[in-house]
Amino acid sequence: MSSADSRYTIVGATPEQQAAIDMLASQFLLTDERLGAIIKEFRRRMEEGLATDGRVLKMIPSYVTRRPLGSEVGSYFAIDLGGTNLRVLKVTLDGRGGVTSEHQKFALSEEAKSRTLFDFVAQCVDTFLDERNLRPLGQQPPIPMGLTFSYPVQQTSINSGTLVQWTKGLNVPGCVGRDVVRLLQDALLRLGLRVKIVALVNDTVGTLLSAAYSDPAAQMGIIFGTGTNAAYYEDVANLAKWKGPNPSSGEMVLNMEWGAFDSDDFAFLPFTPHDIKLDRKSINPRKQAYEKMISGMYLGEIARNIVLWLADQRLLLDGRSSEILNAMWSIDTSYLSSGAVDTTSDLSEIQQVIEKTLNISNSTFVDRQIFKVIAILVGERAARLSAVGVVATLTKRSDLLNKPVTVGIDGSMYEHYPYFHDILVETASHFIPQEQFKNINFTLAKDGSGVGAAITAMLAATYDA
Ligand code: BGC
Repeated sequence: MSSADSRYTIVGATPEQQAAIDMLASQFLLTDERLGAIIKEFRRRMEEGLATDGRVLKMIPSYVTRRPLGSEVGSYFAIDLGGTNLRVLKVTLDGRGGVTSEHQKFALSEEAKSRTLFDFVAQCVDTFLDERNLRPLGQQPPIPMGLTFSYPVQQTSINSGTLVQWTKGLNVPGCVGRDVVRLLQDALLRLGLRVKIVALVNDTVGTLLSAAYSDPAAQMGIIFGTGTNAAYYEDVANLAKWKGPNPSSGEMVLNMEWGAFDSDDFAFLPFTPHDIKLDRKSINPRKQAYEKMISGMYLGEIARNIVLWLADQRLLLDGRSSEILNAMWSIDTSYLSSGAVDTTSDLSEIQQVIEKTLNISNSTFVDRQIFKVIAILVGERAARLSAVGVVATLTKRSDLLNKPVTVGIDGSMYEHYPYFHDILVETASHFIPQEQFKNINFTLAKDGSGVGAAITAMLAATYDA
């Protein structure tokens, strides 16, 4: 493929520089034919995961079998443990599909990420309750709370499940294979805190349920953030591996754990040497392959690998680097979001990042244009690839597409990468028949993950989940 798109033409570039950019463009742009083949494989992997445990796409039963009606009222508490932050929330349902919430946010300390996670979470819950005079005393009953846990957990009931593996840079020893609710409950006990975790949900399940409280057409919840994943309502008849009782609704929300797609054989996703380098140096090599091409935790690092590859050939920054640029993870994905839409005549925003953040003086206009192209190529490939999972899942339930369907989406990539939504929708539209596609409504489900845990706590309390 040639870079016919003028966005990839670097004004003032040497032929060697332009040739390198053309090569990158040919690696990062994906034809519909290529995407179609990846979607087909994704569908095959979904079927595999529905039939048997332990496959690449885990398709984990969430034990959530109901939909909120939107008419439920009351206040419910939740803990939302994500990749970067922890939030404790009190969510009030207004009975008309609306919610208000009060929350406190805590940044996960490095110590928490590598050692003391559950004690840290318990401490934050304590602070939240204490500051609001809500801490149960003496003989008062424990406060029921929902827990959103944004890592792969093999769920064993609505409020228990064992950690399959850590993702997104967390690496707390001694947790894989153990019940995360038990670990948290023990930490709460150590603080003498009367809190009972009544619901455990993945953040995608939470996002779906929070969308469903206000919109009965919600069928799918997705996160495109630090990591990526999705959940959707599946007909239990299609879940051959399910050995539990048949829910009266006939449905079950499944946590797909789609970030793992293609991790076993690296055969379908468009791996470039820059992706492979990232994978090798990550704390979870040969895992989360799809996530590593799509989500905020990784895109800056892919861009950094490309920058160094060009610099090492003296095609960028006159071959210079800096201590910061040499360090892994030093390019934050948010720079890709701002760089891709830097429309200043001299690309001054990108100049700031190169000179102030990366500490490399005297960038040329050619250097800055190359940075911009890298931001576009890496980000837009992510947005296009994100359509793969969306199309595979929606066409799997094409029985639903003859009436309105809402897909609730949250996460920093979806919210902040320029045109992520538009590229995702445009790409998906190439693979779903127009008369069905017009029924699909992709909507931002802002902060849905925590609200969804509170809603699941409500479902557990009201209907016995
Ligand atoms: C985790 C998922 C989570 C997703 C989005 C992934 O790394 O494995 O459980 O839903 O990130 O936060």
